[in-house]
Amino acid sequence: MKALVLSGGKGTRLRPLTFTTAKQLIPVANKPILGYVLDHVSQAGITDVGVVIASGTGHDVNNYVTDGSAWNIRVTYILQEPLGLAHAVKTAESFLGEDDFIMCLGDNLIGKGVNTLIERFENEDLDALILLKEVEDPTRFGVAVLDSKDNIIKLVEKPRTPPSNLALVGVYVFSNKIHQAVSRIKPSWRGELEITDAIQEMVNQGYKVKAEKLNTWWLDTGKKDDILFANAKILDEYVKQEIKGKITESKIEGRVTIPETAKIIKSTIRGPSIIGESCVIQNSFIGPYTSIGNQTQIIKSSIEYCVVLENALIRGVERLKESLIGRNAKILRNRKRKTLKLNIGDYSEVEI
Ligand code: DAU
Repeated sequence: MKALVLSGGKGTRLRPLTFTTAKQLIPVANKPILGYVLDHVSQAGITDVGVVIASGTGHDVNNYVTDGSAWNIRVTYILQEPLGLAHAVKTAESFLGEDDFIMCLGDNLIGKGVNTLIERFENEDLDALILLKEVEDPTRFGVAVLDSKDNIIKLVEKPRTPPSNLALVGVYVFSNKIHQAVSRIKPSWRGELEITDAIQEMVNQGYKVKAEKLNTWWLDTGKKDDILFANAKILDEYVKQEIKGKITESKIEGRVTIPETAKIIKSTIRGPSIIGESCVIQNSFIGPYTSIGNQTQIIKSSIEYCVVLENALIRGVERLKESLIGRNAKILRNRKRKTLKLNIGDYSEVEI
């Protein structure tokens, strides 16, 4: 069994952050989403992993994953023009060869590993096994219709009128039959070779295609609020109380991780929260559900349910909530001034 991890694409929905980074590298609880996906692949005992990258962001993905040794995996990079998930499979064909493989989207997080999914695929000798989850707005996803035995009858990509509320989670296990299905499909209305169409083709050809409903949480980190929610979930489940930094006249409440290089001065940090390397938090309140990236400074401010990336500076901000702040960003409040002075990048959003 090999793995194919999709880390290409355009990432337009997370602008402006994705102007400077791949969306799979946006951190939750101070670790890129892609890192959690590779954890799952590695925990399933898979060592041969293809990572699909796009020309604009591939370099950053490569810098983070390198040869994969941090996950005990061997990585082959596959450069792809982002023409759809099935197109990614097509581009990876020579890497995949005749092997079965699990395909994971590099920007999707699920609340458990993939071991049992792979076991079922192998035990039942399937050609495709896909994960589904009931969602409130199926129009944003690929949607499946099942019969009473969980066989897939029909699949549609982002339907206007969804035939069910079962969305395709970005985890699929395939046999090599997927390749002939991909070779038969045509690009969709959005100009992409859709993996949903390829799976439908497998159903039409009479191959053994099954679905499994995911019984934990799933997050497709497409938008700002998804990132904040993913951050809260991960902090809730994984953050440990580990206080090592220099703490002066401060209160640390609940599960908070503070590394040795961070300084907390006259502040309160409420967990679950994580503070990055070399951060300075002074006369401030942080948390709960907040991740602060490395080298960020927070002075005389109060921050709750936020993700702040590296090297940001936040000063004098009374109450910052539900916000995603990019690298090297500055938010400064000047109490004497009544006017706002902004220098905002393309596609930014500011609610005042
Ligand atoms: O999130 C689950 C959904 O993912 C499924 O319900 C849909 O059936 C499936 O088509 C997909 O839909 P999206 O439109 O959300 O996919 P997105 O373009 O966001 O791409 C998903 C990941 O795959 C992302 O990490 C980027 C990567 N990708 C995407 C394309 C189109 C590639 O590596 N190459 C590509 O050509």
